[in-house]
This record gives sequence, C-alpha cells and structure tokens, in this order.
Amino acid sequence: GSGGGRYMKRILITGGAGFIGSNFIRYIIKSQKNFELLVNLDLLTYAGNLENLQSIESDSRYMFAKGDVRDRTLVEKLFETYDFDTVVHFAAESHVDRSIIEPELFLTTNIVGTQTLLDVAKRHWNLSPKDKYSQEYRAGVRYLQVSTDEVYGALGTAGFFTETTPLSPNSPYSASKAGADMIVRAYYETYGLPVNITRCSNNYGPYQFPEKLIPLMVHHAQRNVALPVYGDGMQIRDWLHVSDHCSAIWTVLESGRVGEVYNVGGNNERTNIEIVKCILRELGRPESLIEHVKDRPGHDRRYAIDNTKITTQLGWKPFYTFEVGIHETIQWYLNHQTWVERVTSGAYRKYCQEMYG
Ligand code: NAD
Ligand code: TYD
Repeated sequence: GSGGGRYMKRILITGGAGFIGSNFIRYIIKSQKNFELLVNLDLLTYAGNLENLQSIESDSRYMFAKGDVRDRTLVEKLFETYDFDTVVHFAAESHVDRSIIEPELFLTTNIVGTQTLLDVAKRHWNLSPKDKYSQEYRAGVRYLQVSTDEVYGALGTAGFFTETTPLSPNSPYSASKAGADMIVRAYYETYGLPVNITRCSNNYGPYQFPEKLIPLMVHHAQRNVALPVYGDGMQIRDWLHVSDHCSAIWTVLESGRVGEVYNVGGNNERTNIEIVKCILRELGRPESLIEHVKDRPGHDRRYAIDNTKITTQLGWKPFYTFEVGIHETIQWYLNHQTWVERVTSGAYRKYCQEMYG
C-alpha cells in the first residue's frame, strides 16, 4: 500500500544542487507540497551549483549539507539528526560522454552511493534492527531511486520501453544506473525496504549543465561556434520538460505502490538533428554551423517510453508541450548568460578541450 501522502514528510534529497534535483527542490517549495523539512546532500562536483537554489535557500524548511553519498558516517549522522522518512536519490555522475572517459567514478558514485543510502535508510527505518530477518518498517517511509530509461538499452525504429523491458545498458553510465537499480530491487526483495524506482526519459529545461545536448547547442549557436552533432544526428530521444519529471516523482512519492518501478515520459520523440535545427531557427543562426563529428561509441539509437503505467495507475500527466517547453528553455539560457558563463569556466573548458578538441 501507499499512505505516504498522509504525513508531513522529512525529506533527504541527494544531488539537489544539480539540474533535476534543484528543479525538484524549487518545485516542491514553490508548489507548497506537504513536507516539514528538506535536507539537500550534495558533493558540489562540477555539476552541482548552489546558485541554482538561490531563490529558495532562505526557506526555513530547507537545509544544505555538503558531502558525499558514499560517506556512510555522514549519511548516518544526517539520519540521526533529522530523522528522515523520505529519501529522493538524484545524486549521480550523469553524463554518458564523461563515463566513457572515466567509468570507475560512475561505478562508485552511482552504485556504491546508492547502496550506502539504502543501507542507512534500512537501519534507521527498521522496527527491529537487531533482527536480521525483520521486514517491518515505520509507517510512511519511502526510498525513491531516480533512474533513467537508458538502463533499457537501445530501441530500433519500433517499440517502446515498458517497466518489464529487460535491462540492457550499453554505456558505463547506463550500466552504473542499471547496477544501482538492481541494488534497490535487492533491498526490496531481500529486506522488504519500501522503495520505488522511476525511469525517466531525457530531460530539458532551465539549469541543465551545458555539456548536455540542448544547452550545449544553445551556447555554441549563440557564440557562432560549430555545433557538434554525433554521427548522422538521426538518433532519437524522448524529451520531457524537467518540471514534468518533478511532478512525476512527487506523484510516485505520494501514491506509488511499494516496490514498483514507474517509467516517466511524455511521448515526445525527436531526432537530435531536429532539435539542433530548432535551436538554430530560434536563435536566427544558419544551419551551416552544424558539424557532423565522429559518433559516440556504443551510442544508443533510440529511446522511447511507454508511460501507460504512471498515467493510468497514478493519474500523472505532463503539463508541457515540446513547442512551448523548448521555446521557454532556449529563452531561459539566453536570459541567464552569466549563469552559463560561471558554470562553464575553468574545469569545464578543460573537459571541452579534451572532448571536442
Ligand atoms: P547532474 O549531473 O546535473 O547533477 C548531479 C548532482 O549530483 C550534482 O549536483 C552533483 O554535485 C551531485 N553529486 C555527484 N556525485 C555526488 C556524490 N558522490 N555525493 C553527493 N552528491 C553528488 O544530474 P541530473 O541531470 O540532475 O540528474 C539527476 C539524476 O536524474 C541522476 O541520477 C540521473 O541519472 C537521473 N536522470 C537524469 C536525466 C536527464 O535527462 N538529465 C533523465 C533521467 C534520469
Ligand atoms: P545527452 O544530452 O548527452 O544525453 P544522453 O546521451 O544521456 O541521451 O545527448 C543527447 C543526444 O545528443 C545523444 O544522442 C547524443 C547527442 N549529442 C550530440 O550529438 N552532440 C553533443 O555534443 C552532445 C553532448 C550530445
């Protein structure tokens, strides 16, 4: 059963200074969701930026803790201090291209980090922690793993990912996310820990780090720098506005059935080249800026989500159309050039040099 919705939640959010996590924190604070405490645990890697949270950081329910999800002592201390009943685990290394360069970091952050959180939550929430077979937990507790459709691997021209599609990851990133999902499943099957997994398609929207397709292309187009399209650019992604992902996560926290996986997507498949041309049009830049570069190794051809389960069982649906969402998003990047300049300084420039030459 669910029932999480009856409580004023005490939430641990990991990775809340990143793209989706910061949108989620702003979303639940601004739409007055029922929580009394929200602690954001984030290591502030290159992808984490507290400026993303400036508009809400003075809210009395919000607190920031700098640290690593792999640091068990720290995670235990946070549970003892704040007595969370809800965990939403966003923190991860999230970029496929970086995972090709540095796979080990992805395995430790994404898999060991997840196991550490699960283990501390289990000990803290179990009603008889000394009984190793106890599957009794406090009422209303929930651990939510924010996963990705990339764990299912690649589709051909037909078909969709459902929650029962076998996991078949192709990049070190998606393999690490699939590994994390398997550990979450094991904590449910073995220990009865009340968990959910959400698997969302590609997100777009404000505050996305400009290493990812849409903000990267806007940034290049603005400066009249070549737009690096991998291979033929006919790869397909199923794009969802980040705020619709946030509302889906909240819906699962409130009414998801314990132990279940929910796919999240808005039936919005686009080729990469279509997205890039749309950005060029919006900025009034010529298509001659497009440069086809060497394809990413192991590049998944197509992702597409079947969202029947979350829409019919939980009543969730996306708010944004792609046309409105992409327009607003491009305008957001144009209006936040100092944010872009700040996050693309130093270390990011070095990464770009290695990645794109
Ligand atoms: P992001 O890279 O923008 O943010 C990741 C955040 O995690 C950063 O703030 C970073 O500082 C933090 N972090 C990294 N390692 C940490 C550690 N060891 N301890 C604590 N904090 C750490 O990522 P995002 O795009 O916001 O993605 C968030 C989550 O959603 C990830 O789990 C990702 O796999 C998943 N997801 C992303 C998408 C997408 O399109 N971006 C789609 C589906 C699922
Ligand atoms: P990305 O934003 O990295 O997300 P993911 O690989 O997790 O889906 O990339 C989205 C698509 O855009 C993917 O097919 C790779 C492609 N892409 C490019 O063609 N050029 C680029 O410079 C980047 C970053 C991505």
